[in-house]
Amino acid sequence: MKKEEKFGKFGAVMAMAGSAVGLGNMWRFPYLLGEYGGAAFLMVYLACAMLIALPIFACEFVIGRRSGMNCMGAFRALSDGKGIWGGCGMLFVVTCTIILSFYSVIGGWSLEYFFKACTFTFHEGISSDELSGIFSGFVSSIWPSLTGFLMFVWLTVYIVRKGIKSGIERFGKVAMPVLALIVVAIAVYVFMLPGSLAGYEYMFKADFSKLNGSVILAALGQSFFSLSLGCGCIITYASYVSKKDDMIKHSIGITVIDIIFALISGCAIMPAVFSFGLDPQAGPSLVYETLPYIFSRMPFGGIVAIVFFGALLVATVTSSISMCEVGVAYLSQERGYSRRKSCRIIGLCTILLGSLCSLSFGPLSHLTLMGKNIFDMCDSLSSNLLMIAGALLTVYFVGWKMKREDVYDEMVGRGTAKSHAPFFKCIYFLVRYVCPAAILVIFIQGLIDML
Ligand code: TRP
Repeated sequence: MKKEEKFGKFGAVMAMAGSAVGLGNMWRFPYLLGEYGGAAFLMVYLACAMLIALPIFACEFVIGRRSGMNCMGAFRALSDGKGIWGGCGMLFVVTCTIILSFYSVIGGWSLEYFFKACTFTFHEGISSDELSGIFSGFVSSIWPSLTGFLMFVWLTVYIVRKGIKSGIERFGKVAMPVLALIVVAIAVYVFMLPGSLAGYEYMFKADFSKLNGSVILAALGQSFFSLSLGCGCIITYASYVSKKDDMIKHSIGITVIDIIFALISGCAIMPAVFSFGLDPQAGPSLVYETLPYIFSRMPFGGIVAIVFFGALLVATVTSSISMCEVGVAYLSQERGYSRRKSCRIIGLCTILLGSLCSLSFGPLSHLTLMGKNIFDMCDSLSSNLLMIAGALLTVYFVGWKMKREDVYDEMVGRGTAKSHAPFFKCIYFLVRYVCPAAILVIFIQGLIDML
């Protein structure tokens, strides 16, 4: 591998945090928090993130950095090419490309709404019916939604094509701090709106009566999605992390950044929803119908809308480039294609599958399987099955296939991290026993949900 293809320390954390922070934090988490019992859900979520997702993150980190290769090469190299492991990286490449396809459709919506905000579409006095008409008209259209999607894919591929350092790292280093500033600024602004307190109460008031098995599964699933686990994003990025970096610090730091982003986004959205007396459980339309309504009525709303949709777009792009890089790293390292050609191939696959996903809200909405359109099929196939299978293979590989000394050496032996030995013991225990059991439960539940 060429020497310049390594992240700097700050760049590594920003790129990985960029992968983790995305629509999952800015839209899905606040909504789940409200729906599943506020602080009670938050506690379960924190436990899942720290006890299950963080160890899996560390496993992906170990595999990627130790091998210094794309996910296919990584498994092959660390298993000495034995058994099925050589082929299991392929699962990650396929999963990532599927996720990238439908994620880019939503990315296209964010892009379009950013343009709409810039042209002050959400003007004062626009009614909620008009707004829902705009949204449903847009997603079910052919060309407007396809154009947004194609531009989003182009943006993603453009950044990835520029390479690890001057594309992904440079973008992440600027985008993530700006994103943090914007989200905090909106949260502070929203705090000052009259009637916002009810929103905090909704988010944080613990209602333990709502806790049940499905809440725990939702929290687990969300923690996986939010940390980009189970499809090789972290393996691929970790292969660009310097051997000198402190892996445990990075893993804990990125998990914490991800959680904080989710909480602050929640504080930027929910209190505003309450301040205007709107429905906090609107689901997907929360971001694209409810929020524009709020923006059209708040002081300086036109500007807040531009800033918010800009932030949403940036967060989505930092995530989509991590998905794209998985396939590009595979093609360029395993097949020997140039970066340019690899980007073209992944871009093309994404456009083919993603266009079908995009059209499944309009002209292709009649194409359904088990009641799901193409978009929902891709979503549930990847989130319920492929990612979970990927996570299971990852923890099994690190916990039971790799030598303990090697894992220890990677997590603690490098850098100056000897004091992390107790962390290692803890994480290794979780990886061997707790994570596989938890993942198996989600896997079975996912299968039941799909059928
Ligand atoms: N973590 C991102 C989010 O919260 C999405 C994401 C990026 C992702 N890479 C992924 C999800 C890989 C699953 C798998 O929006």
